[in-house]
Amino acid sequence: MRDDDSYCERPFPGPTFAEVVARRISRRAVLRGGLAASAAFATVSPAALLAGCGEKDAAPADHGTGVAFAELAHGVDETVHVAEGYDVDVLIRWGDPVLPGAPAFDPAAQTEGAQAMQFGYNNDFIGFVALGGQADHGLLCVNHEYVSPEIMFPAIPEGLDEVARTAALKQQAAVEMAAMGGSVLEVRRKDGKWSVVPDSRYARRITVTTPMALSGPAAGHALMKTAADPDGKTVLGTLNDCAGGMTPWGTYLMAEENFHKYFGGNLPENDPRRASYFRYSIPGGGSWSVLDPRFDAAHEPNEPFRFGWVVEVNPFDPASTPVKRTALGRFCHEGAESIVNKDGRVVVYMGDDSRFEYLYRFVSDGKVDADSREANAGLLDKGTLSVARFNDDGTLAWLPLVHGRHGLDAAHGFDSQAQVLIDARRAGDVLGATPLDRPEDVEPNPKTGKVYMMLTNNPQRGAPGYPPPSGPDPRADNTAGQIIEIAPDGNDHAADTARWELLVLCGDPTREAVGASWNPATSANGWFSSPDNCAIDPSGNLWVATDQGGAWAYNSGLPDPETQAGTLPAGATADGLWYLKTEGEGRGTGRMFFRCPVGAELTGPRFAPDGEALFLSVQHPGDSDSSKWPAFDRPSTFADPATRWPDFKPDMPPRPSVVVITKKGGGRIGSA
Ligand code: FEO
Ligand code: CA
Ligand code: CA
Repeated sequence: MRDDDSYCERPFPGPTFAEVVARRISRRAVLRGGLAASAAFATVSPAALLAGCGEKDAAPADHGTGVAFAELAHGVDETVHVAEGYDVDVLIRWGDPVLPGAPAFDPAAQTEGAQAMQFGYNNDFIGFVALGGQADHGLLCVNHEYVSPEIMFPAIPEGLDEVARTAALKQQAAVEMAAMGGSVLEVRRKDGKWSVVPDSRYARRITVTTPMALSGPAAGHALMKTAADPDGKTVLGTLNDCAGGMTPWGTYLMAEENFHKYFGGNLPENDPRRASYFRYSIPGGGSWSVLDPRFDAAHEPNEPFRFGWVVEVNPFDPASTPVKRTALGRFCHEGAESIVNKDGRVVVYMGDDSRFEYLYRFVSDGKVDADSREANAGLLDKGTLSVARFNDDGTLAWLPLVHGRHGLDAAHGFDSQAQVLIDARRAGDVLGATPLDRPEDVEPNPKTGKVYMMLTNNPQRGAPGYPPPSGPDPRADNTAGQIIEIAPDGNDHAADTARWELLVLCGDPTREAVGASWNPATSANGWFSSPDNCAIDPSGNLWVATDQGGAWAYNSGLPDPETQAGTLPAGATADGLWYLKTEGEGRGTGRMFFRCPVGAELTGPRFAPDGEALFLSVQHPGDSDSSKWPAFDRPSTFADPATRWPDFKPDMPPRPSVVVITKKGGGRIGSA
């Protein structure tokens, strides 16, 4: 997602609603003011916060070792780069066929019908599930998070009359809805090269209009009922699916992130639902109500409660109905990766990617049946959702979101467990969860049992009226982000407690004001800013993808973009993928492996089960933040984009694409 989508409007104890509104209006001033706070904090040594960094025991032989490749350099240009000795191939691009009979891609005249059969826009999460137990044949499950209309469509002509302009907006909205959701692709490796199997019986497109079921405690609650669905158990489509997850039984979890952005209109002043709307930044100013009135909150006030969930999809059956699993809570979900706990239950870790939001964990009541996918079908409907409180002493407490306990009752506006889940953010507020610097992807490492949480950034940290630096969020005006390592007590992912450590404080370690902290072995290309997605390879190594958003051109961690206009500071780089060592002497050392084209963010890293292929989502290449690239230096549009990657043809706009990385001559990605 773009960084500017995550601005926090939420009131903390202290400021009034009017103050919050005033603050929003003076946002730029707040960002500048943060500079002083950041400099003051730099007097505290970040190294002191990195308990254990560089002081770990030697790594076990089967993980954290054996990664060796010639590091890539920071930089920015029109195309992708990978470390020497590796190939990068485009697997599928926006507009390529997914369903049998999909028409050829015509970007100048895209239609809803064509788009619904073709690969969608802004590919994000990638899941892989093997077919027939083979590492070279499987299903790729890919989210399409959002759309970038300014570079995917020709501009709507000026001077149209009202009727013609409305028709054009409707046509565009219909294509946008068909371009989002997800794709299921059958992929195969032959002679060392991966390709999409044409006309596969597994091929599927999921969009904003695909019928879905609601299940779990919130299904059927009064807030889930609409005119179109008086039972509150069926909903059309999914919105803004970002990082997600694959379950141990091979289903695909789509996680709905910034769903609020798609709703316009508002409730009357005295409507009791306004408190919940406000806590979820609804309405977010969407324009789709021109086509479908359910996206107008004034017309259908309960529709926004039916988004913000985790959706489970059976990728083996393209006719199956996706299910929104409400037991996993409603928030701006980022990531839903899981692990089978030592007692056999499944544990799902989930971030809520907005500034000052929380980390969540779901523990199923039932145990995973390793022999039958069908037997696990309802496992995500019954269990306990908890939210994390990080204590400054390095301990972490999981606080259960259970109706009737610890204030989650009628006195705080919760009528049932359903409402606790629908208003999970408000429930976390009541329990005293720790507000974090934008929790993005969270992944358990099955080799070590440790869990890695990416905190991408938070320039509002420490600003007047907002929470000060503390614990896992130690820097004010934090533009660079940090990575937290969590070790469940007793290696029990269902335990009430865990311990946490800062693994790295991101940003340029050579600039003192940034307050970054890396292992000293990290090179000038090994540090990064704004960790977003991550992946654990089959050997247990951690790989981190970045999303610096519009800050890419100054995101060495320097807080003031204005002073950097027109030039790129040393160290500026497009987003990419880094290996980050977590064990042994080199713990906290980064190494750059892959780099995106200008304006793109890297998402969805996923290793094939044998570790010999790495699938990556290159999202929004040539997006408008490309204007900060001095070599382009103007708005990037469909007619005049900053890059035309990956086709580089004059009539082809930039196309979000999934690429696959392989090692020349074969072998595990990263291996010596
Ligand atoms: Fe969609 Fe939080 O990135
Ligand atoms: Ca993301
Ligand atoms: Ca991930």
